[in-house]
Amino acid sequence: MTNRHDVTLQINGATQRISVEARKTLADAIREDCGLTGTHLGCEHGVCGACTVLLDGQPVRSCLMFAVQANGRAIRTVEGLAKGDTPHPLQQAFMDNHGLQCGFCTPGFLMLACGALEAKPDMGEEEMVHVLSSNLCRCTGYHNILKSVRAAAVAMRNDTSPSASSEAS
Ligand code: FES
Ligand code: FES
Repeated sequence: MTNRHDVTLQINGATQRISVEARKTLADAIREDCGLTGTHLGCEHGVCGACTVLLDGQPVRSCLMFAVQANGRAIRTVEGLAKGDTPHPLQQAFMDNHGLQCGFCTPGFLMLACGALEAKPDMGEEEMVHVLSSNLCRCTGYHNILKSVRAAAVAMRNDTSPSASSEAS
């Protein structure tokens, strides 16, 4: 008897069919079964936010979900942000504003900010600080992360290129 379950994930617009144990987290399935290791694992219990991905457009901590719970859902990871050689405005802003040092927390911050800004492109400063405060960074002191997201918000509002739009295909 097997306790494996067939799960279909739509990740960054591509269909991934995997077979996982019921206890496997979405984070582990993304990394181990789908080969997308850009999603990082830090605390593995919902505190740091390094594992943040978008689930049907909403930022979620993928270490707190089982892969089976994501069956049939649309997931976006950091690998889906850039369009070819063109970085997403958030990625460009993090580069331009020194929003990362070691980079371990960065995929989580990028996906958190991406979901938040797509839902609310004109988000105010106070709300932006509140949203970003859910993830942890051990390097940057947060100022440059906030500066990066602030700059990306402006770029995303002004940018009509495909890299700035939500994942549609
Ligand atoms: S690894 Fe998921 S919140 Fe820390
Ligand atoms: S850049 Fe190192 S943990 Fe954030």
